[in-house]
Amino acid sequence: MNRILVTGGAGFIGSHTCITLLESGYDLLIIDSFINSSEVSLKRVKEMSDNKNINYLKGDIRNLEFLDSIFSNAIQEGKPIDAVIHFAGLKSVSESTKIPLTYWDVNVVGSIALFSIMRKYKCYTIVFSSSATIYGNTDKVPIKEDSLISPINPYGESKATVEKILSDLSLSAPFDWRIACLRYFNPVGAHPSGRIGEDPLGIPNNLFPYITNVAGGQIKQVEVFGNDWPTQDGTGVRDYVHVLDLAEAHKSALECLFAEPAQLLILNLGNGFGLSVLEIINTFSRVNNCEVPYVFAARRPGDIAISYADIALSKARLNWYPKRSIEDMCRDTWRWKLNNPIGYRSK
Ligand code: NAD
Ligand code: WQD
Repeated sequence: MNRILVTGGAGFIGSHTCITLLESGYDLLIIDSFINSSEVSLKRVKEMSDNKNINYLKGDIRNLEFLDSIFSNAIQEGKPIDAVIHFAGLKSVSESTKIPLTYWDVNVVGSIALFSIMRKYKCYTIVFSSSATIYGNTDKVPIKEDSLISPINPYGESKATVEKILSDLSLSAPFDWRIACLRYFNPVGAHPSGRIGEDPLGIPNNLFPYITNVAGGQIKQVEVFGNDWPTQDGTGVRDYVHVLDLAEAHKSALECLFAEPAQLLILNLGNGFGLSVLEIINTFSRVNNCEVPYVFAARRPGDIAISYADIALSKARLNWYPKRSIEDMCRDTWRWKLNNPIGYRSK
């Protein structure tokens, strides 16, 4: 079976994707600096897969010597790396406006280091974590892959830049690059076992972790950012997708890249429809039978009214479709929270 290097595999989307790949028999080598994650997530992934076909190392993708040793050791072991799934990066929009240099360094310089070493070892297959945030402010929904790329923050700029680098690579000799840029919309949910999930450090920025902390009594109420948007109930509309559906899309993307000639795939990953903040709060509270108090607050700077994906191309190219409902997303998130009230730091 193919050997895959997973960068950032200890994180939220990476850990779930590792489970899905291990279940399909892939051999995984995972690297992570743990700057935004915990080694406990990988220990659990290991246990959940009976310790088979999984190895991990602590290290930074900007460290060329470290990356080189990963590829050369794999060859010496007789199990070279066939492909890379590149999750490692920093992902907070607000933080990226405060420390832009760090975002450009980790997300862009780190990616260049990775691609250089891949080229050195003739490993030309890569799945890259891009983001719907690169579309910027668009009022045309559903958003197709050929919509205008116009990021409005350093985080989005860094993701758009890496996509551009990958596009340039795909046009370069020896014309062997097999690349998938996957543009995630709003990944949420957790593994149904309740053993792995999203574990943001500090006060969360995103809606789901925020709701979970309010339901768990750690925060008093959700501040709903704006009730005067031009949407069904005045609150912001987004495309929430279960993290395990995303994980399955990564497996399908790898299989597609392995099976087809060299190509550059650019695909949206979402559910293909939008839900409002109030719809999410109400669904969470109904399916989990818990209180989620909220108040209306001012709009958050940089927010847009509506964003949801056109996923026709992903369905067609990957033979994939999202299977899990918004109820599943709310239930699985809550199970993770109940089992791990303070994330991976819980006993
Ligand atoms: P995450 O922070 O949970 O995972 C990222 C992982 O990368 C973490 O484990 C972190 O420790 C690691 N990492 C960061 N910098 C590193 C470095 N220099 N070297 C090695 N490891 C490093 O985030 P996630 O939600 O799992 O996101 C994964 C990827 O998907 C990211 O690239 C993110 O930008 C992208 N993405 C996420 C979302 C989302 O809402 N979660 C949406 C769109 C795109
Ligand atoms: C969703 C909705 C908020 C928190 C972000 C990034 C994007 C991607 C996914 C990485 C919006 C509202 C939120 C709260 C609220 N990440 N909200 N109260 O902004 O769609 O996307 O995460 O690539 O790049 O920008 O997600 O979860 O922050 O917000 O009312 O406390 O919930 O206004 O309408 P967003 P989100």
